[in-house]
Amino acid sequence: MTSSLNGKTVIVIGGSSGIGAAVAKAAAARGAQVVLAGRRLTSGVVNGLRSEPVNVTDAGSLQQLFERVGRFDHLVYTSGPTVRAKTLIETDLTEAQDNFNVKLWGSLRAIQLALPFLDKHGSISLTSGQLGRKLAPGQFIKTGINAATEALGKQLAKELAPRRVNVISPGVIDTPAYAGLSEEQRLAMFAKVGEGVPVGRVGQAEEVAQVYVLAMENGFMTGAVIDIDGGGTL
Ligand SMILES: NC(=O)c1ccc[n+]([C@@H]2O[C@H](COP(=O)([O-])OP(=O)(O)OC[C@H]3O[C@@H](n4cnc5c(N)ncnc54)[C@H](OP(=O)(O)O)[C@@H]3O)[C@@H](O)[C@H]2O)c1
Repeated sequence: MTSSLNGKTVIVIGGSSGIGAAVAKAAAARGAQVVLAGRRLTSGVVNGLRSEPVNVTDAGSLQQLFERVGRFDHLVYTSGPTVRAKTLIETDLTEAQDNFNVKLWGSLRAIQLALPFLDKHGSISLTSGQLGRKLAPGQFIKTGINAATEALGKQLAKELAPRRVNVISPGVIDTPAYAGLSEEQRLAMFAKVGEGVPVGRVGQAEEVAQVYVLAMENGFMTGAVIDIDGGGTL
């Protein structure tokens, strides 16, 4: 049965920016008590929402987050590293391991430590990305992290039932993830990507956030990988 987020507690790890910040806003608009978490945050209030610091590479930091919040209903995980596109031969594997540690191992660490606090009827929403299945030279780190996230989302949907586990796979979305580019480079890149996808443009974080709300609210959805990419994976 579909349930509302009204009165539910949602923790958004990665809620300090981009897609996570948009999910937090959308969940709050549906009546949820939202806790934003990220390294740049402190215990306080940001845009009317509770905020807490967390570093997903540090189990102690995650444990403190869950202890501070206590029992909760939905875990959303959008934390991700800045990944430099490079071929395997050019890559220092320590850097690749650090990237995996934030997004893949960070999500497993977070789930493991969240479970004692996460309601049995609640849900976990993970984040992959179209490069998990859309293969391109120089993108082995994102492909590896995202493909593993999608496989684990399905496996955990069985293992953690009746809790539901879903994975949201965005295409290229206009977020601060691209803040390292100049405005001109960013707009040129978005225009080029837009030409290659059926909808003719990149996505907005608010459009992706609607899918996380669906995954949290729809009690029949588990083990799903949901593409929200303007058709970019096709
Ligand atoms: N934007 C896209 O085009 C796109 C496409 C496909 C997939 N995705 C995926 O969507 C997710 C969100 O990306 P975004 O575009 O919203 O990027 P973003 O705006 O750069 O946000 C990244 C988030 O990750 C958090 N983070 C990074 N390292 C962390 C750490 N050690 N501990 C805790 N939090 C950490 C950041 O918070 P702090 O800095 O506060 O720690 C920030 O909230 C990522 O998994 C990304 O791979 C994005």
